[in-house]
Amino acid sequence: MMKLKQLAKATALVAVLAGAGAAHAGEVEVLHWWTSGGEAKAASALKAQLQKQGHTWKDFAVAGGGGDSAMTVLKSRVVSGNAPAAAQIKGPSLQEWAAEGVLTNIDSVAAAGKWDEVIPPVVANIMKYKGHYIAAPVNVHRVNWLWINPEALKKANAKVPTTWDEFFTTAEALKKAGIIPVAHGGQNWQDFTTFEAVAIGLGGVDFYKKALVQLDAATLQGPEMEKVLTTFKRIKDYTDKNAPGRDWNLATAMVIKGEAGMQLMGDWAKGEFMAAGKTPGKDFLCTAAPGSAKAYTFNIDSFAMFKLKNTANEKAQQDLATAIMSPEFQELFNLNKGSIPVRTGMKMDKFDDCAKQSAADFAADAKAGTLVPSIAHGMAVPAAAEGAMKDVVSQFWNSDKMTAKEAQSRLVAAAKTK
Ligand code: GAL
Repeated sequence: MMKLKQLAKATALVAVLAGAGAAHAGEVEVLHWWTSGGEAKAASALKAQLQKQGHTWKDFAVAGGGGDSAMTVLKSRVVSGNAPAAAQIKGPSLQEWAAEGVLTNIDSVAAAGKWDEVIPPVVANIMKYKGHYIAAPVNVHRVNWLWINPEALKKANAKVPTTWDEFFTTAEALKKAGIIPVAHGGQNWQDFTTFEAVAIGLGGVDFYKKALVQLDAATLQGPEMEKVLTTFKRIKDYTDKNAPGRDWNLATAMVIKGEAGMQLMGDWAKGEFMAAGKTPGKDFLCTAAPGSAKAYTFNIDSFAMFKLKNTANEKAQQDLATAIMSPEFQELFNLNKGSIPVRTGMKMDKFDDCAKQSAADFAADAKAGTLVPSIAHGMAVPAAAEGAMKDVVSQFWNSDKMTAKEAQSRLVAAAKTK
């Protein structure tokens, strides 16, 4: 009799627990633009983390490197009152979205996870609106990289360039050897990424900050910027005719296959090399973009959390934020993504030499004051100014007529876009 009673009690307890579990299981719709080989692998690490906790992942992927298409779709969803739980939003845009009143406060998650202790202050500031966390950071990407196929270099009898002069010498040698010197694609953000690499490498950190962070009109109009634009445009001669319209990852694939010798791109490109089973230092080389070894243009991916109406989904959303900052996720995700963990104090032993260099340089550049936000990847200036300047740079790249001086005047006007 006693036993039966105990059994009934235990069964009731199991039922209660199961019920509680079900009530807590929610759905998280996540907007992102990670659709290339390496990116998709990284995104699935996030999905797996969430599913482990019993929640459902609703994938809201909008293809298009750099995220411009994703941002357009996000706007229309939010305007129609149908925001996803989490969206990949970065830099100053986080503040703009928060000011609209659509993001939710995740301070409780941050306090439980001691985020203030493990997120570098420069990053934490971006994740907070009026002192409250509204987003969770996943990684740190370095943008000022040059990716090289060593076989192609060997065939061309050329060396790894460390200055822009050397870059053009190497490009010329590759061209003579019948190899496309520079793999490039067709979206304006790819032009802007290349432009940014020239700006930091040729102009230096102070110039970069004045021109592309503070948007100082005199610097945008000055002789240094003219040199940067002219050098940037010279690169075009070393790209192939099929570059217009090409996605960045297909450009990376050209370097992987040895059809092209080099690519200027952030380290999400490394995610492609890794997904193709390539080894850094052997099958491909990573080196700072010419002239920029002592600088670091950073690009931090983060997920903004939107206000939700359903408590189960809110719980799932909080679990996602918690998972993002867990050491386990930070390692797995970044091994696939090509970036480094944003969480401090992480062991780097499973990471390759490019990531180790990125981590060491991030720390050194932070100390030296040579860590600068990437304008091409939404980290430096408000989205409206960035978009307008990006367009000018692309028009200059694509036009046979526009002079550097003309592009400079247009940049000054574009920088004022609100
Ligand atoms: C960047 C983003 C990276 C990478 C890249 C290409 O803006 O921060 O995570 O995905 O675009 O899509």
